[in-house]
Amino acid sequence: MSYQVIARKYRPSRFSDITAQEHITRTIQNSLRLGRVGHGYIFSGLRGVGKTTAARVFAKAVNCSRMIEDPVYLKDVTEPCGECESCRDFDQGTSLNISEFDAASNNSVDDIRLLRENVRYGPQKGRYRVYIIDEVHMLSTAAFNAFLKTLEEPPPHAIFIFATTELHKIPATIASRCQRFNFKRIPLDEIEKQLRDICDAEKIQVDKEALQLIGRKAQGSMRDAQSILDQVIAFAVEEDEEKGIEYDKVAELLNYIDDDQFFDVTDAVLERDPAKMLGVARFVIDNGYDEQDFLEKLIEHLRNFLVLHNLRSTRLIERPEPVKERYQRDISRFSPGSIMKMIDVLLQAQKELKFQFEYQFRFELVLLKLIDLAGTGDSADTVSLAEGTGEKKKSLNGL
Ligand SMILES: Nc1ncnc2c1ncn2[C@@H]1O[C@H](COP(=O)(O)OP(=O)(O)OP(=O)(O)O)[C@@H](O)[C@H]1O
Ligand SMILES: [Mg+2]
Ligand SMILES: [Zn+2]
Repeated sequence: MSYQVIARKYRPSRFSDITAQEHITRTIQNSLRLGRVGHGYIFSGLRGVGKTTAARVFAKAVNCSRMIEDPVYLKDVTEPCGECESCRDFDQGTSLNISEFDAASNNSVDDIRLLRENVRYGPQKGRYRVYIIDEVHMLSTAAFNAFLKTLEEPPPHAIFIFATTELHKIPATIASRCQRFNFKRIPLDEIEKQLRDICDAEKIQVDKEALQLIGRKAQGSMRDAQSILDQVIAFAVEEDEEKGIEYDKVAELLNYIDDDQFFDVTDAVLERDPAKMLGVARFVIDNGYDEQDFLEKLIEHLRNFLVLHNLRSTRLIERPEPVKERYQRDISRFSPGSIMKMIDVLLQAQKELKFQFEYQFRFELVLLKLIDLAGTGDSADTVSLAEGTGEKKKSLNGL
């Protein structure tokens, strides 16, 4: 059998298998039960979070014979049966009731005219023809306008699903004629669980920490997570099948900067230790990490302290337990005010670094500046980093 990438092999074919988007799948299932299917939908959200997948399951569901003919099944299960002729056509990719149209490469008025022609004809089999228009924000204004009429008076058999990663680029005239669904970033623990299920199904051994690392790297996109898993399997498992996928190998492959480095930065600030800070800068530069990427993650590290200050819980910190404990331990050493100041400096530096020539030198300077922030001699600033509630109050007032 030829090799199929994980993202395709494990594409969900039922509503219940679509992770983290229950607010959407439930609404669609309800409208199916009530027989209130709309003609225009906008699916927006990050890359690889299930927009195309949900559109396909939807198309399959509205044409499934069992869903149409068996009211009890429709009410109790509300999933495409996967067995009727229509469902099988969908699964084999031979159904004529679904058309996917890539607006990024077909965005002229002529392309839209062709589509409009096509929309006039009803389905030969089944009830609805579903048109998925991907990357719809890439359509030209003229193309959008050419489409408006169709959307205002759609033939009864047509359902349009507009998918986009950039909702704000869709004209209000189109958006207001559609039901809008915003797909969420997929939480780390759900990505981890999905990857775990895939590894089990593929009989691949894998560390929990390794999966978490892949999940973090994917930043909320399930497709990214699955593609990274593919890459990791090729890299780690084929080298040594017995050992499976281990944290160290994944970290190496992904060129991952360990949390230790970020705690080293905050330690250097607290200890006013420029040598330590320069050590971190050297580490980043010598190992070929991207400085911008490092600053981004350093900001996230500081943001974790802020979250902890405000919520007094590590719930929103997406890290393994031992790292969360480390945040708990360190939190009393920083005031929210001092964290905000550091974040400001880093945000500014991120902007400026883009245009600099002496990049590495500037990068070192920025990190050193963090220490400087803590100890400019001004007493209000100095206490702002210190422990103790009384002192903390003072620093907050100083802001
Ligand atoms: N919510 C999800 N639950 C389970 N798997 C998912 C989910 N979202 C994405 N996937 C996996 O990622 C793959 C790609 O998802 P999909 O094509 O639906 O993404 P998309 O949101 O349309 O992305 P893009 O904006 O890049 O078109 C799917 O084949 C599936 O394996
Ligand atoms: Mg898509
Ligand atoms: Zn069916």
